[in-house]
Amino acid sequence: MSSEPLGVVLVGCGTVGGGVAKILLEHADRLARRAGRPVVLRRVVVRDPSRARPVAIPAGLLTTDLTAAITDPAAHVVAELIGGTSVAKKVVLDALAAGKHVVTANKALLAEAGTEIFEAARKVERVVCFEAAVAGGVPIIRALGESLAANQVTAIQGILNGTSNFILTGMAEKGLTYRAALAEAQRLGYAEADPTLDVDGSDAAHKLAVLAQIAFGVAARPHQIERQGIDTLDPMDIRFASELGYTIKLLAEAWTSESTQADRSTSRPVGNGSSPSRSEDVASSELKTVALHVAPVLLRHTDLLAQVRGAYNAIVVHGDLVGETLYQGPGAGMMPTASSVAADLIDLAVGRAQRTFAVARLWAKECKGFTVEPTERVRSRFYLRLLVADRPGVLADVTRILADEQISISSVVQHEAGEGGDQPVPLVIVTHYAQTGRFRAALGKINRLAVVAVPAVFYSVGD
Ligand SMILES: NC(=O)c1ccc[n+]([C@@H]2O[C@H](COP(=O)([O-])OP(=O)(O)OC[C@H]3O[C@@H](n4cnc5c(N)ncnc54)[C@H](OP(=O)(O)O)[C@@H]3O)[C@@H](O)[C@H]2O)c1
Repeated sequence: MSSEPLGVVLVGCGTVGGGVAKILLEHADRLARRAGRPVVLRRVVVRDPSRARPVAIPAGLLTTDLTAAITDPAAHVVAELIGGTSVAKKVVLDALAAGKHVVTANKALLAEAGTEIFEAARKVERVVCFEAAVAGGVPIIRALGESLAANQVTAIQGILNGTSNFILTGMAEKGLTYRAALAEAQRLGYAEADPTLDVDGSDAAHKLAVLAQIAFGVAARPHQIERQGIDTLDPMDIRFASELGYTIKLLAEAWTSESTQADRSTSRPVGNGSSPSRSEDVASSELKTVALHVAPVLLRHTDLLAQVRGAYNAIVVHGDLVGETLYQGPGAGMMPTASSVAADLIDLAVGRAQRTFAVARLWAKECKGFTVEPTERVRSRFYLRLLVADRPGVLADVTRILADEQISISSVVQHEAGEGGDQPVPLVIVTHYAQTGRFRAALGKINRLAVVAVPAVFYSVGD
């Protein structure tokens, strides 16, 4: 291993870049010990050098000259920490073309352009590391790519967006409306002024795309991942779900099919951590399709993921050898995210990243056997909430439509009408397992019933 210092260029010195600069400058001795050689900050590229930074950047290092920074012969790694997908992609491709390794925290960029970036890296025999891109400080990329390497992952369920989880926690525990919980998240710095990508499920979908690449070898484009956010969630459903024993969480989920036979079905893992796709049920060579989606899901109050509060992230991974594993921690923030970037820098300094990158062949053009299937085939239980006219025969109409689609009912709760007797009343139905496609077909018919006042609300039930 070389004893030459590893030269690092940071492009971006905001929340994450500022944290990485802090670690490199304030923990240089620790990093050198762990890396076996010094890890040295060569340049910090920003837009506005006059802005205050989280740490004093030594004179001469702060610059706006990106080209000079990434072509510095003493720089070995460029850390892209600016975000977005256009300038960031150019930074990454230019850095690779200049012969530098790349570290990035940018899940949107990987989800959009992973194939192009990783092909470019392989062509010049350089490495792209991205531990910080999913779940901030939680080492889920290494867990999936290295620690669980002997497994075939059969399912992933993750709380991957801390902003949404913070808002949901406020709605569930304080009875806040979505708007009030969002305002609180913004006041405390957990949500951006424009929170759209966080609350509409897009950010979680980008992260799921990255995890699905490692676990299943699929290059799922963001538009292939069906998503529903929390921005339309009604406090009424949080309350009704809670009365039934469930907490609503925004989950990013990946489900593999049980077999490649014509009658295959893809199901949520059943209770006690066992999965219908575990090794005793199916040989891993038969696992060929994976369904990916992001949506609010009802989880039993006792479920480990239901207990993840505030801005934390958590991911449950089912492996065919290991069974169920759980990873939890801060999914964002300056130092947690910078901790993951610094770990990538140490791996590059040691030479571990170069060895694993070469064999992993992430985002390679050749197919690794899995294809993305529509969520229509996923079997799940469903929570269905209707606002219906309070008159005889309504329940019979709804249950007949469900029965026509082979959907049986687990429980029904009709809530009392409010003041003024002619208001629609909430009717909550929880189904047994049903295929998503059939459930949606039934939903279409239910919504056309004259007694249904507004379109039905439905969520998957995670047990
Ligand atoms: N924040 C988190 O907790 C977190 C967690 C996980 C992953 N990430 C990811 O990390 C990345 C960075 O996020 P962040 O929150 O640190 O962003 P940020 O606070 O907005 O910082 C962005 C930095 O990039 C610089 N920059 C933007 N455009 C530039 C350009 N064209 N040329 C040079 N510098 C430019 C900015 O310079 P100025 O300072 O001069 O404006 C700023 O220093 C994103 O991909 C994000 O998704 C963030």
